[in-house]
Amino acid sequence: MSKQRTIAKDEIKIIPDYAISSSVSLPINQSPNPFIPKDLPFEGNKKLLEQMAIAVQLRQPVLLMGDTGTGKTSAVRHLAAKTRNGFRRINLNGQTGTDELEGKILLNREGTYWVDGVMADAMRNGYWLLMDEINAAAPEVLFVLHSLMDDDGYIVLAQGDKGEVLRPPPDFRLFATMNPSVEYAGTKEMNKAFISRFFVLRTDYLPEKIEAEVLVKRTGIKRKVAMEMVGAAKAIRDMKAKEKIDFTLSTRELIQWATLFRVFNKFLPAAEPAIINKLAESELSAIKDLLGMKFRKHDGLTKAKADVKPDTPIAVGDKVRLVSGRNYTQTGVGSYGQVSEIRGGDAIVLWDALVDVKTGAMSNLHISVPLGVNLVDLEHFDY
Ligand SMILES: Nc1ncnc2c1ncn2[C@@H]1O[C@H](COP(=O)(O)OP(=O)(O)OP(=O)(O)O)[C@@H](O)[C@H]1O
Ligand SMILES: [Mg+2]
Repeated sequence: MSKQRTIAKDEIKIIPDYAISSSVSLPINQSPNPFIPKDLPFEGNKKLLEQMAIAVQLRQPVLLMGDTGTGKTSAVRHLAAKTRNGFRRINLNGQTGTDELEGKILLNREGTYWVDGVMADAMRNGYWLLMDEINAAAPEVLFVLHSLMDDDGYIVLAQGDKGEVLRPPPDFRLFATMNPSVEYAGTKEMNKAFISRFFVLRTDYLPEKIEAEVLVKRTGIKRKVAMEMVGAAKAIRDMKAKEKIDFTLSTRELIQWATLFRVFNKFLPAAEPAIINKLAESELSAIKDLLGMKFRKHDGLTKAKADVKPDTPIAVGDKVRLVSGRNYTQTGVGSYGQVSEIRGGDAIVLWDALVDVKTGAMSNLHISVPLGVNLVDLEHFDY
């Protein structure tokens, strides 16, 4: 007969869980650590989080593949925050050297000393490491990761003439992201072998209602306004899918647009820095037309450009928009103003909430526009 041992109450440790769904949960890390990220609201994407959590349970490295702004970074950050794991991140590009990952030898008065790179630090302390834009990394950088990702599970830090074998503690996890537009086609051979070692998950834009919810929660705009913006985003994404334009409007741009909407209370001026000014010349008119058609009425811009004859003189109450490349660029290209009075030979235009492109500072400003200037120079709502 086997002996039974009674377990004392204080021997039982209950480790709290973070439940992603009814079937998938992850333990909440109990160790204190300075790199637990701030938990920002993260909506929807339950399936993605579940898949990530399963990979974490299986100790598999995860590669998130998706267009810019589809929540790759925020998904990893969110899961790390909820499970109280340390989160370190490195943005890779062709210039990122192995020393940024592994570390380097520095010199001070006492002599030389070793400083861990981001990856070595994450591995030593058992943090979650996110390597953004993995496809942009130089081959020698990926080579550092090879032995870690193969069955060996360690890296060797070359600290001068000594080498330190670094084996990550159980909490360490590796995540990477890449943009699908470059996918395998533009990816070097070595990267392909590297990518095949990952658990690959796809990210996509959020469903419309959930994306609107993100805007409401993050910026405090009304739900109706958020839905309008998401609707415009959908139309722009459709244009991109049909290869009419090259611009992708992500949740990131939508958050900027919504944040500025809170300032202007108008769609079009808010769209300038968030969307319009990011466009290439070739896609400008298509997207301006689309936004103009959708939002001109809301913004109180009742006259469309087509309705305005080139020689129409400026009158009190007219809303005007400064055009780039003219004499008035110093007062803020692209911003709107309203003619408040005609004084002497000038139309006095009040620019409300003029945003300085460089500093983001806002001001109210009067400028005088010589009456000889007509709407060819100062366009009425050129959307
Ligand atoms: N599901 C979501 N819930 C709440 N906010 C989200 C969600 N997805 C994305 N966002 C927000 O959208 C913005 C862009 O997300 P994020 O930076 O995670 O995208 P990304 O895929 O990493 O983009 P990139 O490829 O450019 O690095 C962030 O402000 C993020 O907070
Ligand atoms: Mg990112």
